[in-house]
Amino acid sequence: MFKIGTLKIASRFILAPLASISDLPFRLLNRRFGCDFAFVEMINARCLGYKSAKTRQLLTTTAEDRPLGVQLLGCEETFVERAMDIITRYRFDILDFNAACPERKVVRRGEGAALMKDPAKLKKLLSIVVKHSPVPVTVKLRAGWDARTLTARECALAAEDAGVQAVCVHGRTQNQHYAGTVNYESIAQVKKSLHIPVIGSGDVFSASLARKMFDQTGCDAVLVARGALGNPWIFQELKSFFATEQLPARPGSAEIAEMMLRHLDLCIEYHGERVGVVVFRKFFIWYTWGLASTRHLREAGTRSRTREDMVRVIEEFKLLKIERQGMRSHNERLSILPA
Ligand SMILES: Cc1cc2nc3c(=O)[nH]c(=O)nc-3n(C[C@H](O)[C@H](O)[C@H](O)COP(=O)(O)O)c2cc1C
Repeated sequence: MFKIGTLKIASRFILAPLASISDLPFRLLNRRFGCDFAFVEMINARCLGYKSAKTRQLLTTTAEDRPLGVQLLGCEETFVERAMDIITRYRFDILDFNAACPERKVVRRGEGAALMKDPAKLKKLLSIVVKHSPVPVTVKLRAGWDARTLTARECALAAEDAGVQAVCVHGRTQNQHYAGTVNYESIAQVKKSLHIPVIGSGDVFSASLARKMFDQTGCDAVLVARGALGNPWIFQELKSFFATEQLPARPGSAEIAEMMLRHLDLCIEYHGERVGVVVFRKFFIWYTWGLASTRHLREAGTRSRTREDMVRVIEEFKLLKIERQGMRSHNERLSILPA
């Protein structure tokens, strides 16, 4: 068990916010395998002000999709304050603030990881969020801006001062984006300096890498991000390993196919058939990534336009005798995304 403010979370493995990925179908599927807490992808404070249909759809949830975190991205006090007024009309349990997104179009505006260069500004923004939030507030940081500007500890202390109830640190700098090694020491330093829980993020692709994150940083919980792409079984694996030191058997093609069908149907229910099939195509690639003799199916999956097309490809996959090579390798996971 793990607590963020007053919220009790049943386990220490959290599904990360993932832009263009963490929709309701993806979250529900991971919850079936034991994910006890999930995040919606980041929502821009400015877009919330425009009340777009897309933003409303991102915030759609159900009773099984709880507890749930939402994440706000922004850097202008007025927009953040206005966004708080709108976002608090939706149902969720944690409000996270993004100071971690490395994308050029984001940091150019002074948002996301750009805030790692300005702890005072970050503190001001977080104070506004804390003041207006009815639920516990958390913040997502990076190790720093670049190798010479490792500000995670300073930013985390500023966040704790502003009243946030937990800090998540992705142990890479903005410069690294998603590549290169994770700086576990930067997370360990934050953990040593704070009184509130710390969540570690970076390369949690397997139970042994989750153990490495806990052992090297002393963090209280971990975020599962790329490790969950096409692999909701990771939550079952983490829970089993940390409870019994045993790893469950990896799924065979029939079980993977069953899950793909369920995922496809959830995507269609949520997005409609045309968009749902397009959204599912990338998941099909991740479900089959690294499995021998599946390249022709990935090509066919990428061309699928209707449920019927996609089901045909999944049925063909189901007949394959896949040789389970255990957990997909670290390098394969790293290459999975972003392209
Ligand atoms: C495609 C993609 C989208 C992401 N979107 C978000 C996001 O919306 N908000 C956020 O805080 N982090 C986001 N992240 C970062 C992840 O939450 C996580 O911190 C990072 O991928 C490191 O974990 P990993 O090495 O286990 O993948 C994203 C990462 C990826 C690969």
